[in-house]
Amino acid sequence: MHVNRRGMAVVAALVSALACAPADEPSSANDHLPGAPGIGDTDFPKDGNGGYDVTHYAIAIDYTPASKQLVGVTTITAGATHGLSSFNLDLSGFTVRSVTVNDAPATFSRQGDELTVRPARPIDNHATFTVKVSYAGVPKPAGDGSNLGTYGFMPTPDGAFVAAEPNGAKTWFPANDHPADKAPFDFSITVPAGVTALANGEMVGQPTTVGGRTTYRWRERHPMVTYLATATLGKFELRQGSTPGGIPNLAAADPRFTTSIDRLYATSATITDYWATVFGPYPFGSTGGVVDDYAAGYALESQTKPLYGGFHPDETIIAHELAHQWFGNSVSIKRWRDLWLNEGFATYAEWLWAEHKGTKTAEATFKDFHRRRAGDPIWKYPPGRARAEDLFNQAVYSRGAMTLHALRRAVGDQTFFALLKRWAADHRYGHVTTDQFIGLAEQMSGKELSALFDAWLFQPRRPQ
Ligand code: TRP
Ligand code: ZN
Repeated sequence: MHVNRRGMAVVAALVSALACAPADEPSSANDHLPGAPGIGDTDFPKDGNGGYDVTHYAIAIDYTPASKQLVGVTTITAGATHGLSSFNLDLSGFTVRSVTVNDAPATFSRQGDELTVRPARPIDNHATFTVKVSYAGVPKPAGDGSNLGTYGFMPTPDGAFVAAEPNGAKTWFPANDHPADKAPFDFSITVPAGVTALANGEMVGQPTTVGGRTTYRWRERHPMVTYLATATLGKFELRQGSTPGGIPNLAAADPRFTTSIDRLYATSATITDYWATVFGPYPFGSTGGVVDDYAAGYALESQTKPLYGGFHPDETIIAHELAHQWFGNSVSIKRWRDLWLNEGFATYAEWLWAEHKGTKTAEATFKDFHRRRAGDPIWKYPPGRARAEDLFNQAVYSRGAMTLHALRRAVGDQTFFALLKRWAADHRYGHVTTDQFIGLAEQMSGKELSALFDAWLFQPRRPQ
């Protein structure tokens, strides 16, 4: 919800300085400027937008698997962070039918994945406004900007697999598509009767069927990053209940993967409850997981419902995706270069799970990685500075996890585990940077740790 957009603030300050307007003068028409086309992440300059913070998304889509036609109406509530003469949303593909701002027709134009909206009346700084976009077409998944192949809204024979990290939310709804702006979501998803629609959070009411089409309503009431939003559609078998610790739990499996459903349900429950003892209280209203038949070969930590694309998930990957609920989903990054704060932590959670199970200590896993020869590519890629063209490099995962283990060795178990809990608690539902983590580690340990973090996160060579 809140984010600093220093770039835009500077421009605004400059413009008002040029206009010689004293700071306490009432706002004039001059104070209304176009919102920036990017949120200010220099590695992803077009992602997200400037000039507003989203406070709520209401996404209503109607999807027909046979024709792949999506008809959508997305209503975004936002607060202006400077006066706006126009502002941008991110949207990829589709025909935009109409846009209204505060219920008044607005003009709009499109350039690449930028949808520029010019409201009939400019929006004052700090004003809350709603923008409603009606759009339709066949979704086209994204396929660039990372080393992960296809992502976004991916049609499947029986529905869709929707996994959008890092910037594929715009392939199915207009968004401020960057993790620096989080908001709660409401979903209304209409599909042919017989198709199940699974989105984040919890179901609202019962699905209703009219004229052979069923509408499902889901609500994620906690702030959520756009890439975590999902509307996974298809034929699913469901298991529902609660974890022993009392967290509502929902497992879903495509007919091809129903042999996994009981294990997914039970393992997700056990691991969610266990992480709550290690990382602190579970941040969301429900847990679970979805196995779909889309052969992505990967998983995504979709908020409250990790997605497993086309394989039977084992405990290790379930431990990883559920750890992301704390690290990545509740505590989120402001810029993609800090991705190790998500992936290094979730990978370290895999090591912790093995340690907990008694199969392998984190120390032994660390040593196996550390033993890798000096020429191994993992040492060339400093994980503290994830690169846009190779965002999900293995180093961000494994060397990120090694960084945490090196820290644990340096500060001892007691401080280390207190630090993990404190990090999750202090920044619950918020945003963080790597410097903040280093600062907290130094504060809680009373140690000077810059050499350790520099060697593990920022040097293109194997640390000692
Ligand atoms: N965050 C995922 C994980 O490590 C990996 C991932 C990145 C991903 N981009 C994705 C998964 C796009 C699905 C779609 O668990
Ligand atoms: Zn991950």
